This record gives sequence, C-alpha cells and structure tokens, in this order.
Amino acid sequence: MQQIRAIVGTQWGDEGKGKIVDFLAKEADVVVRAQGGNNAGHTVEAFGKVFKLHLIPSGILYKDKLNIIGNGVVIDPESLIQEIENLQKEGISTENLKISDRAHLVMPYHKILDEEQERQRGEDSLGTTKRGIGPAYTDKTERTNLRVCDMLDEEEFVQKLRNVYERKNVILTNVYHKIPMKFGELLEQFMRYGEILKPYITDTIKLLNDSIKAGKKVLLEGAQATMLDLDYGTYPYVTSSHPTVGGFCIGAGIAPKYIQEVVGVVKAYTTRVGKGPFPTELLDKMGDIIREKGREYGTTTGRPRRCGWLDLVVVRYAVLINGIDRIALTKLDTLSGIPKLKICTGYRYEGKVLELFPASLRVAMECEPVYEEFEGWSEEEIKSAKDYDSLPKNAKKYIEFIEKETGAKVWLIGTGPSREDIIVKE
Ligand code: GDP
Ligand code: IMO
Ligand code: MG
Repeated sequence: MQQIRAIVGTQWGDEGKGKIVDFLAKEADVVVRAQGGNNAGHTVEAFGKVFKLHLIPSGILYKDKLNIIGNGVVIDPESLIQEIENLQKEGISTENLKISDRAHLVMPYHKILDEEQERQRGEDSLGTTKRGIGPAYTDKTERTNLRVCDMLDEEEFVQKLRNVYERKNVILTNVYHKIPMKFGELLEQFMRYGEILKPYITDTIKLLNDSIKAGKKVLLEGAQATMLDLDYGTYPYVTSSHPTVGGFCIGAGIAPKYIQEVVGVVKAYTTRVGKGPFPTELLDKMGDIIREKGREYGTTTGRPRRCGWLDLVVVRYAVLINGIDRIALTKLDTLSGIPKLKICTGYRYEGKVLELFPASLRVAMECEPVYEEFEGWSEEEIKSAKDYDSLPKNAKKYIEFIEKETGAKVWLIGTGPSREDIIVKE
C-alpha cells in the first residue's frame, strides 16, 4: 500500500467507513482519527461480533496496530472510557490506543447546550446527535475550551474552568432554566477521567510523525463525510468539523504533502440522518425497502436513516474536494432484488443541469434530479460472487457507470456487513 492513505466519507456519513478502515488496517501500522467526536458511529463486524466504535479508530481490533485519537477530535471522556471498557470486556486490548494531549474536551454543559439549542430551534432544528459536538467546537474556536492536557494539571484545569464556568451557568440557568452546575463536582469528575485516561495521553503529533519517518504505514480514518463538512456541506445542516482530507491534516498534525492516496467511501445508494436537503431522497415505498434491506438505522442514535438513490452530483463533488483516487463502494448487496435502479447524474434547475452541488439550500431543495436507469440483479448472484468477474453483469454496469461519471476507479466492493464480505477489483 501507499505509505499514507486517507479514507473519507463522500456522502452524508454512514457509508461504511469503519468496515473499510478495518479491512485496510490489515496492511497498515497506524490508524488515526482526526476530527469529529462520538457523533460518529463506525460499525465493524468481525469474529462473529458487531463492534460499534465512536471515538476509537477502527484499527483497534488488531493487536499490533497503533490507534491514535488526534488533536482535531473533540473527546467526551465519559463516553471514551465507556468505549474502552466495552472493548476490554470483549477481549480487545486497548494498550495501543493513544490520545492527543491537544484534543479538546466535550464538557457536560456542551451536551446540555446541544440538546437545549436543538429544542429552541424547534421546527428548524438541525437534527444533531446531541453529543455536544457543535458547542464544544464553538468553544474551541472561541478560545475558551478545555483540552485533554488540562485534565492532567489540576491547577490549569481549575483556572480554565473558572474562566468559563460562571458564564455557562448563567446561560444554563437564565436562558434554559436548568439547575446550575457545581464547580467542585465538575473538577472532581474530570480529575478522575484524567487519572483513568493518563496512560493513553501523549503528544500524538510527535508519535505520528516519528512513525512516518520510520516508514510506518498510516491510515487516516474520516468520521462523518464531505456533505457534512462545515465549509463544503449543506450548511447549516452539517457537523462542526472538517470531515474532508484537508481537515485530516490539521486534526492529525500531518503535512498535506505526505498523503499519497485518498480512498472515498461511497454507499451504493444514499442515506442521511438528521435534517437538510437530500435531492434523491425516496419518500415512497422504495425508500422503506432500502431502509429495511440495508438496516439503515443510526449506529449512534438509532434514528431511521433517510434513504434515496445514489447521487453522483454528491460523489463527484467529494472526488473534487478530497482528490479521491479510488472508491470503496459499500452495500452493493443491499440493492439486490430491486428490479430497476436509478443513479442521479445531475440536478435540473431553471432549465440548466448542475453537475456540482449548489451553495444555496433553496436551490438544492428546488433541484430535480436527472436519473439514469439500470436493471437490477438477484441476491444469490451477489452472494456467490467472490471476485469482480463473477459479479452479475448488471452490477458491473452499475459500477462502471460510477467510474465513468466520477473519474475515480472503484477498488473495493462491499457485498455484506462482515469483514470478509469484500471484493477487491484490481
Ligand atoms: P460508518 O459510519 O461510515 O462507519 O458506517 P456505519 O457503521 O454507521 O453504517 C454502515 C452500516 O453498514 C453498518 O451497519 C455496517 O456493518 C454495514 N455495512 C458496511 N459495509 C457493508 C456492505 O458492503 N454490505 C452490507 N450489507 N452492510 C455493510
Ligand atoms: P459517521 O462517522 C451520519 C449528522 C447528524 C446531524 C448533523 C449534525 O458515523 O458517518 P452533530 O451531532 O455532528 O452536530 O450533528 O450531522 N452526523 C452524522 N450523520 N453519520 C455520522 O457519522 C454523523 N455525525 C454527525 O445526524 O444531521
Ligand atoms: Mg456511522
């Protein structure tokens, strides 16, 4: 493999990044998460078990891989400790997990604020995961947030918490009519988290760059996806980080020149959780069929995912922004048994066809997808296929159309949820 490879979501998340990272981690030495927080839910099915990862990189199922949570991630220590304990209960070692001392903390008030702000938005809510992600990144850019290193230094922690605590309490009590937080309780709680997480905390920027110098192979694992990017996504219906390759460099502490290959994860159709425009959404029975066949319910919140046809306007846009070289196409098996499939190649708007996603949400809402129709294939045909040649003819047509329209080659093809259900197309 190329020494440094980035794995990025191309749609609205849940493309199957966890499974692809787990598959590719086999030949890597280091796996890094660089942005987002426990709003992510990455599923890996291995050893006959289902692992749901939120903050811990998807390389953790291998004993000998280094797994780094980078500086760009926002960490809810309570959730991270729970995740570590859950893995250990399943017999998975977390000894090779390292957490950046520069990563920002998701504080209990961030979670309350996320929830209350959503409630206040009413009809216009964003549909966040309510994990405190937006408020934590807001405090980071406002330069008032606490970081992982602060948990290891009581004096620093006390001083920084003092600076924000009164203000947060005023907002919690006066604006949202919540009970005020107790300083002593917060302090005690975070000193305890710091104690538990101490063995994992380090300068991951040095660790990662030393590994690169030593010739180690690195995978950068994206969370969320291009259409949820704060700049490139369907703003304001986005997350608060940069789940695109540029964001990975900042969030891992790796120079852009080191990234040699970008793999875009594309689900064979489109899903979205939460609100916001979704031009190819299927609000009819077909949407329900895809949801049930693909078990499209959120890994983090359990919410039913909105489902629709594959949208190549979205994927083309992701290829452009991330410089995607190759595609990992997941869940092709989910489309089995559907007689006629559609792929969107452009958006019709005011008599013109747009090939890239528009900035204005009003325009995006008014666009009418331009579709190409494809004949389907049967379930048995996909199940029995073990290599590209033995895939059904119509599935190959579907794949080759994606290649033609996006200019990126399809490399990996997901044919089922488990680690083994993957076809490598040379
Ligand atoms: P992520 O957030 O991008 O890692 O994706 P999620 O884990 O949230 O959602 C993807 C879902 O699809 C998970 O339940 C995976 O186990 C499952 N999955 C991944 N690849 C495939 C595939 O090729 N076929 C099927 N049937 N399921 C898949
Ligand atoms: P993975 O890594 C799908 C969505 C939320 C909401 C919006 C903002 O599993 O692909 P946030 O809590 O981040 O402020 O919510 O972003 N969202 C995701 N949707 N997959 C994810 O992660 C997501 N992380 C956030 O549903 O619409
Ligand atoms: Mg997910």
